[in-house]
Amino acid sequence: MDELMRREVLKIIESQGKAREALIPVLKAVQRVNPKQYIPQEVSQLVASTMGISESEVYEVVSFYAEFSEKPRARNVIRICDSTVCRVTHHRKTAELLEAALGIRVGEATEDGVFCLEYSPCFGACDVAPAIRINDRVYGNLDGEKLEEILQSYRR
Ligand code: FES
Repeated sequence: MDELMRREVLKIIESQGKAREALIPVLKAVQRVNPKQYIPQEVSQLVASTMGISESEVYEVVSFYAEFSEKPRARNVIRICDSTVCRVTHHRKTAELLEAALGIRVGEATEDGVFCLEYSPCFGACDVAPAIRINDRVYGNLDGEKLEEILQSYRR
């Protein structure tokens, strides 16, 4: 971890607080400031020691939630919901459109490091299924044209 990342992590903990309930918001913010959108082991260790939480508890949270990754991803993480409502509204078609537009498969990242694609459990946008989430923003009622516009807005 470089010094800049170390300072970012400490700044995030200072603003969120060291209470146990702050762990998930801290980890989300820490992952967001990493250009590769993941939480390396040494960052988990720093979070644990600074917040006074055991390393195993931090690892447990990072490995339990689909939201978090211990492996490098991309600047923009596109999550395709694959829970029930999105499944019956043809989420696989959405995945195929994204795979074709980005030239990658679900589970991969584009070579330029701008996008990666992954499946996700329901994130509460069932009323606009099939839905995707890019970083923290949700998009629904998707078709090919809408998807292309959305991707363009992240390429700028
Ligand atoms: S089932 Fe897809 S967002 Fe809920």
